[in-house]
Amino acid sequence: MNQQFDLGFLGGGQLARMSIMAAQRLDFHCLSLDPGKVTPSSLVAPSLQGELTDPEKVAHLIHQCKYITLENEFIPAQVIRQALIIADRDPSCIIPGLGTLATIQDKLLQRQAYQSFGAPTPLAVPIEEAIESIGFPMVLKARFGGYDGKGTRYAKTAEEFESHRPLFEQGGWMAEQFVPFKRELAVMVYRSQTHTGCFPTMETVQVNHVCDLVFPANTDASEVGISAVEAVQGFGLFGVELFELENGEFLINEIAPRPHNTGHYTLDWGGISQFEQHVRLATHLTPAAPEGQETCMANVLGIEDAGSFDYARSELLKNHAQANLHWYGKAEARPGRKMGHINTTGPNCRENAIAARQTFLDAWKTGSKA
Ligand SMILES: Nc1ncnc2c1ncn2[C@@H]1O[C@H](COP(=O)(O)OP(=O)(O)OP(=O)(O)O)[C@@H](O)[C@H]1O
Ligand SMILES: [Mg+2]
Repeated sequence: MNQQFDLGFLGGGQLARMSIMAAQRLDFHCLSLDPGKVTPSSLVAPSLQGELTDPEKVAHLIHQCKYITLENEFIPAQVIRQALIIADRDPSCIIPGLGTLATIQDKLLQRQAYQSFGAPTPLAVPIEEAIESIGFPMVLKARFGGYDGKGTRYAKTAEEFESHRPLFEQGGWMAEQFVPFKRELAVMVYRSQTHTGCFPTMETVQVNHVCDLVFPANTDASEVGISAVEAVQGFGLFGVELFELENGEFLINEIAPRPHNTGHYTLDWGGISQFEQHVRLATHLTPAAPEGQETCMANVLGIEDAGSFDYARSELLKNHAQANLHWYGKAEARPGRKMGHINTTGPNCRENAIAARQTFLDAWKTGSKA
């Protein structure tokens, strides 16, 4: 075997980029594969251009890397399976495992895994059984490929349910109980053959179904978070999204088998970051115990008519010396696209992150370049 790279990433977006930067600090050599030519990852390490659904292209990456991991869960497990055969590699070189990936990729299978494991989660059924088993209000979800709420619909009444029929009749939809949650939480869970543990439980505020703000939740959902990972027989790093009910109970919403937006604060909290933990797990190194200071993260999304980034950055640094800006290097700042994030640490970190982001956004708008 003469793999030139230590770690290969399927996907070259910001999650791969930040993982690669963490891997480079451990002196690992990384390679990424992405359909885009210039990607957040290609700016920091060698990259391949190719479709992630093409087994030949995936095999090309696998062939060159000792260990493989992924930055999104949408690459069909079947494609990776085929690619492993083409590259003549054992599935053990990939974290997360392909069985886990296949379960997570189908939101209905994922819910059923929690249900049969006894992990708390809303009841979910195939769309055909929705009215009989769930009733109203209910949430309709695309079983495959949803992100940032794009595959999520609500039905409070039979009329609303009918209005979604043209969509779900195309196939691949499920229904689940609507959860009247008090707040949404997330916990990063790591699991190796020898070590299992969690980063702190965070509260996540979503705006238009996109994560807006993340800060410590002052509660501990570790036990339920770990049960979610065990239910899908997962090894590696996982972001577990949870609902907290009025009575303090936790329900599992969904799981991501990779670093997660709600773990970005760990880049600046003073302890191990979620990215280094991911790299450690993917390369079979011992995971570290996560410990750090109270830290808050505010996402920065692309805006209409964005002006000069350099000016926005200089205004941010001038006015908020303690704010840490992480910019992903995306070629285009489309409105709503995740472009970067800002972390702030210590007392009042939440207020400070919001204020810092406002300064940045105000300066980034066209006309603020003077
Ligand atoms: N059963 C539910 N009851 C109430 N609200 C829900 C339910 N399921 C999802 N939601 C809301 O919709 C949002 C998006 O749902 P979900 O996380 O399943 O979709 P996604 O598009 O795959 O995820 P993401 O936004 O994390 O990429 C949740 O963060 C939550 O605010
Ligand atoms: Mg979600």
